[in-house]
Amino acid sequence: MIVLITGCSSGFGLLSAARLAAAGATVYATMRNLASQTALQAEVKRRGGQVRILALDVTDDATIAEAVAQIQREEGKLDVLINNAGYGLGGALEDLLESELRGQMETNFFGVAKMIQACLPLLRKSKNAKIINISSVAGLVGVPGIGAYSASKFALEGYSEALWYELGTFGISVTLIEPGTYPTEVQKKRVLTANFSNPNSHYLQENQTLLEATDRRVARGKANPEEVAILIEQVVNNPKPKLRYPIGREAKAITILRRFAPFRTVSRVLTRALFR
Ligand SMILES: NC(=O)c1ccc[n+]([C@@H]2O[C@H](COP(=O)([O-])OP(=O)(O)OC[C@H]3O[C@@H](n4cnc5c(N)ncnc54)[C@H](OP(=O)(O)O)[C@@H]3O)[C@@H](O)[C@H]2O)c1
Repeated sequence: MIVLITGCSSGFGLLSAARLAAAGATVYATMRNLASQTALQAEVKRRGGQVRILALDVTDDATIAEAVAQIQREEGKLDVLINNAGYGLGGALEDLLESELRGQMETNFFGVAKMIQACLPLLRKSKNAKIINISSVAGLVGVPGIGAYSASKFALEGYSEALWYELGTFGISVTLIEPGTYPTEVQKKRVLTANFSNPNSHYLQENQTLLEATDRRVARGKANPEEVAILIEQVVNNPKPKLRYPIGREAKAITILRRFAPFRTVSRVLTRALFR
C-alpha cells in the first residue's frame, strides 16, 4: 500500500507515518523542512519499517508537483493521501491582519485542495483509493480566540463532504478525522496575531485568559495522540470508511450535543469549557 502524508515532522503526521510504516505500508512522509526529520527517523527506527522522507510545503506548488512526480516515477499509483499539515492562528477575528487570515486558509484549506487535485491522477490508478483529511472539533463549532482556524476547518468540512459525493462515484473514499485537543506540537507551533498583545486591542485581557485556559486544558488532558494515529490506521485498512470520525472526549461530546441540543445550549457548554 502506497501512502502519502503531509506534515510529518511532529504530532499526528509523525505518529501515523511511523505506525503505517511499521505495519508494512510504503509511506511517503513529507515535511516542509527536511532539517526537522530527526524525530520521525527516531520513531521509525524504534518501531521498525521504513519511510521515504520528501520535502513538501502545502503552500508551495513546486514542492507538491515534485513529490507527486517522484511517487509517479517510483510507484505509478497512490492508495492513500493523508492531508494532515496544519497550524492554529490565535487571536480575535477583529484583530487579525488580512495576511494572517489568508495564511491560515492557505495552509489549512487551499493546501489540502491543492494536494487533492495534484494527487487524484495517481489515486485514480489505485483499486481502493482513500483521501483522509485531518479536520478538528473546531471544524464542528466556531471557537472564539481561534476563529480563523475554525473557519479553515469549517471550509475543509464542507469541501470534504462535497468531495465525498463527487469521488464516491469513482470508488474513492473521503474521510474527515475530527480530533479534540491532543498534546502534539500544535500549541508550541501556533501563530499568534501580531495584535495579540497590542495594548489598544479590545481583546487584550480575553486573549490572555483564553490562551492560559487552553494551555491548562492541554496540560490537564490525558489524551494520547497515538489514539489518532490508531484511528487513521483503522480508516486506511477499512474498505468502506465513513465520512466523519470524531475522536477524543471533546469531539465526541460536541458531536452529540450539536445533533440534539439547540445552539444556546451548545454555546453555554462551549463557553464554560473554554474558560475552565
Ligand atoms: N493536536 C490537536 O489538538 C489537534 C486537534 C484537532 C486537529 N488537529 C489537526 O491535526 C493536524 C496535525 O496537527 P498536530 O496536532 O499533529 O500538530 P503539530 O505537531 O504542530 O504538526 C503539524 C504539522 O504540520 C506541518 N505544517 C504546518 N504548515 C505546513 C505547511 N505549509 N506545509 C507542510 N507542513 C506544514 C508542521 O510542520 P513544521 O514542523 O514545519 O511546522 C507539522 O509537521 C493539523 O491539521 C491540526 O489542525 C490537531
